[in-house]
Amino acid sequence: MSETALKIDVVTGNPANWPADALVIGVYQGGEPQPALSQCGTVVEAEVRRVLKAGWMRGDCGETLWLPTPLAGGLTIGRLLLVGLGREHLLTLESFRALGATVVKACERGSVDVAVCLLAEDKHHGIKHWQILETMAEGAWMGGYRFDRLQSDRGQESPRHVMKKLLFGVREERLERCRKLFDKVEKITRGVMFARDLANMPANLLTPDILAGKARELAERFPIQTTIHDVQSLAQKEMNGILAVGQGSVHPPCLIVMEYRNGGNRPTMTVVGKAITFDAGGISLKPAEKLEDSKFDMCGGAAVFGFMQAIAEMNLPVNAVGIVPAAENLPSGSAQRPGDIIKTAKGIFVEVINTDAEGRLILADALHYAATFDPDVIIDLATLTGACVVALGTHASGLMGNNSALLDKLRKAGEASGERLWPLPLFQEYQEQIKSVFADIKNTGGREGGAITAGCFLSRFVDEARAWAHLDIAGTAVDLTGTKAHLPKGAVGYGVRLLCRYVLKERI
Ligand code: BES
Ligand code: MN
Ligand code: ZN
Repeated sequence: MSETALKIDVVTGNPANWPADALVIGVYQGGEPQPALSQCGTVVEAEVRRVLKAGWMRGDCGETLWLPTPLAGGLTIGRLLLVGLGREHLLTLESFRALGATVVKACERGSVDVAVCLLAEDKHHGIKHWQILETMAEGAWMGGYRFDRLQSDRGQESPRHVMKKLLFGVREERLERCRKLFDKVEKITRGVMFARDLANMPANLLTPDILAGKARELAERFPIQTTIHDVQSLAQKEMNGILAVGQGSVHPPCLIVMEYRNGGNRPTMTVVGKAITFDAGGISLKPAEKLEDSKFDMCGGAAVFGFMQAIAEMNLPVNAVGIVPAAENLPSGSAQRPGDIIKTAKGIFVEVINTDAEGRLILADALHYAATFDPDVIIDLATLTGACVVALGTHASGLMGNNSALLDKLRKAGEASGERLWPLPLFQEYQEQIKSVFADIKNTGGREGGAITAGCFLSRFVDEARAWAHLDIAGTAVDLTGTKAHLPKGAVGYGVRLLCRYVLKERI
């Protein structure tokens, strides 16, 4: 897995003595530098103001400008990096994530080893000092990510410069707390990278079996107990949803279970993630256009892997079980057919109307299995429906469930992490749409409310009495635009930070 070499730390005292190659200074739109610039002495401040006044930079969000440090300024740092902040009242936590990433990328291009950031010492509209450090560090680590392991010329033609150190100038009394904060952020973002790596891997190199191997590796490195249920074990448990979806592929399906128990007698949470390593649609074959993106249909499962690694690395005192049903959905002579009726592990008979609505079939068995851990909370993440993308676009995941307290907590965690969620209703009336003539329910509910009827389908496999949340991440798991500096093109690792935030805030 790609490990980031970047170290993030804090420095204190006089900028003249900071051991760095570049000093990062924020500039608001309109060309006003951040107040902390005055710490750098009058010569440096005057030079920066002169350049800004001359209109070399406007201060737009994401803009960068390199300057040599004036020789008479008394700084040993050779270069200044001005970064645009946009309008002050528009700055959000998400802006600071992007900013952290922008700094790292600019320093890569500038071949800078060590940079010091001044930004954090200023107040920004209700955003607290530590939040700026947290989000910028998060953005910096996330922004340095690249999935280049399958590019044979990497590091040869134009070797990529990786910044070694990013420092934040802070006051003495904050050093200790900041280092703790960075330590936590680093472990969480490592989970994000892990999730990205798994999801970006093409389906020929990441089959259900290989994914199971990654769970075994986790068990070697951390106090995580991994169990893989293979086809034989799935058959014994009558997990025919998972089996039916996987039966068309030569790569057999499996159910991956990762148990992390470090919470004493605290309640157990289960996190379930859809992992279709490739979704061709099965016999209900998808069109060829953009079919390559179907390798991302395991982003829910990838988030569970990243989350399990992160909480184990942080040594959090919680009990969590990650459950990942994995299968490849292909058409073939052995594939399931539209019209097939399968008896799920719960005993509910499902008529398969469309073999492309496969996610809910594997989740049906996985959600039912989750209950065997007697959890107080079940959270599932799945790239489940195109309808969710139509409803919410790419800036929020669909949030459904049976417990408003849990949904509220997740929404708050989503807000704080920048991995946002928005509720969709699971009214009883929608259940009508999945009634089947020949079985108990069918796996599609028609075009209307497609994200909701998928949620309704899942609801049939969880106990009313158990708090459950379903996150449809079809629109949020992958970014093919690259418009946010901290989110690379491809899988963004959505869900890892959200889940970590939820656990850190609500369960310890
Ligand atoms: N994995 C897809 C949903 C999806 C679509 C994810 C686009 C990401 C981007 C899912 O398995 C699927 O094919 N769903 C169908 C369901 C339909 C047949 C009821 C869909 O959304 O079209
Ligand atoms: Mn599908
Ligand atoms: Zn799918």
